[in-house]
Amino acid sequence: MPESKEVWTSRLGVILAVAGSAVGLGNFLRFPGLAAQYGGAAFMIAYFISLLLLGIPIGWAEWTMGRKGGLAGYHSSPGIFHAIIRHPLGKYLGLLGFIIPVVVYMYYVYIEAWCLGYALNAATGTFSAPGVDYGKFFATYTGAGGDGVALHFGLHDVGIFVLIVYVCNFYFIYRGLSKGIEFVCKWGMPILILIALIILARVMTLGTPDAAKPDQSVLNGLGFMWNPRDIATGLKNPQLWLAAAGQIFFSLSVGFGAIITYASYLKKKDDVVLSSLTAASANEFCEVGLGGLITVPAAFVFLGAAGIVGQGTFGLGFNVLPFVFSKMPFGDFFATIFYLLLFLAAVTSSLSMLQPGVVFFEEGLGLGRKAAMAFLGVLTGLGTLIVWWFSKDLKALDTIDFWIGTVGIFVQGMILIIVYAWYIGIEPGWKETHEGSAMRIPGFYQPVMKYIAPTFLLVVFVMFIAANVFGWNFSFGAAARFTPTSYVTDLVGPNPSPVARGAFAFMAAVVLIIGWLVHLAGKRWDRQEGRKHS
Ligand code: PHE
Repeated sequence: MPESKEVWTSRLGVILAVAGSAVGLGNFLRFPGLAAQYGGAAFMIAYFISLLLLGIPIGWAEWTMGRKGGLAGYHSSPGIFHAIIRHPLGKYLGLLGFIIPVVVYMYYVYIEAWCLGYALNAATGTFSAPGVDYGKFFATYTGAGGDGVALHFGLHDVGIFVLIVYVCNFYFIYRGLSKGIEFVCKWGMPILILIALIILARVMTLGTPDAAKPDQSVLNGLGFMWNPRDIATGLKNPQLWLAAAGQIFFSLSVGFGAIITYASYLKKKDDVVLSSLTAASANEFCEVGLGGLITVPAAFVFLGAAGIVGQGTFGLGFNVLPFVFSKMPFGDFFATIFYLLLFLAAVTSSLSMLQPGVVFFEEGLGLGRKAAMAFLGVLTGLGTLIVWWFSKDLKALDTIDFWIGTVGIFVQGMILIIVYAWYIGIEPGWKETHEGSAMRIPGFYQPVMKYIAPTFLLVVFVMFIAANVFGWNFSFGAAARFTPTSYVTDLVGPNPSPVARGAFAFMAAVVLIIGWLVHLAGKRWDRQEGRKHS
């Protein structure tokens, strides 16, 4: 049986590591963008319902299954599913828990490099220089302006930072669980919160900087985001529910295969109930309490509502905010620490995407740590190069993010909760979850985990695919319309996008290769356990 001596050194350590995984770009960029777009209050209702009915219970299931698999000697998602499901096909149910982190890493790390690069540019005064064209800077720096334009290595290019970020991430993974991941999260998380509080204080005291535009005040900025308007109409919009549920998954890192690996290093009597809840609470504090109060009000004060609406997730953070900071007193300083904050948030998340991959190569294929890292480095590096080169309109990034980073999570989240509540069974699962637990889960979560969460998830997923892939207008009967979205027409329409097709083919190749590796790993595990494979 594969042996591993890696353990978390303390309960706080594992909580911070999971919180570090959860708190990421999603908290500071994706969340505020979505909440503003869907009109604040209504979005928050759907968001909290998804948190209570999906995020928290599926988190408990994932932590429990991770610890269970770890006790059987496995730490990768395919290994853990192999240990839990005594069937030759069981390990494939864990396949996505390996593919998602590895593939999301390929583009997440690219954005992580922007954060570091933007911090340096802010520190050296690029954004406050007279006549700087923010849109043009964004387009060349990130490559959104054209294919290949970002693949440069000067001081004002992203290249060096991609390399730095790669070396940094792999170095900490190489140092191992406690000296690497736990160490970074223990320092990174408090610093991150401190920086966020400083920026929050700055934004909250902006007042009304332009006397000629009295409407653009901080209070109105907060109101723009949070005042209840048309809650009933908002809640009738299925897209809002899809966005809210999707954000819960992405933000909590639930269903990705990251937490299952982290939890596999727990001991039999280590609590999962309270730890999982604490990590989720830390994430919500950073998301709603910090992320929700910084970017949108700041942009509102200087640009008004018009400057926010229509900006994509990254547009707001990298296109609009450099300008916003340049308008503040000590803007360079605040911009520098803001992008450092994003960078810190991203590093702790990206480490949680590498660990599941490295450990699979170790325990599944018997590679040493260095070989496992080399393998993973080449695989993810190839993906990053694709995203980096085919960067026009961030097409490759967007395509991969949609199919793996959004669709993939729903599927894996569904597999997780169904295996927990129906294969392990809710009664034995519940008992297992409560091993060594520091608190009891209220009983009504049993039916939630068994019936409500899977049903809710399935409904959301089917609607998500119907709307975001096939362009369903949410009407029935004669009024129903299906207008396939660009995610489909890019691949099979009359004017396909070669980049989207290429990115899709690349993902398909990765899935096949990894599937085959999981097949090989399964043989190895069967041999080790003396189990016959049929
Ligand atoms: N939860 C992270 C965020 O909010 C994203 C993430 C995805 C982290 C996958 C780990 C694994 O940005």
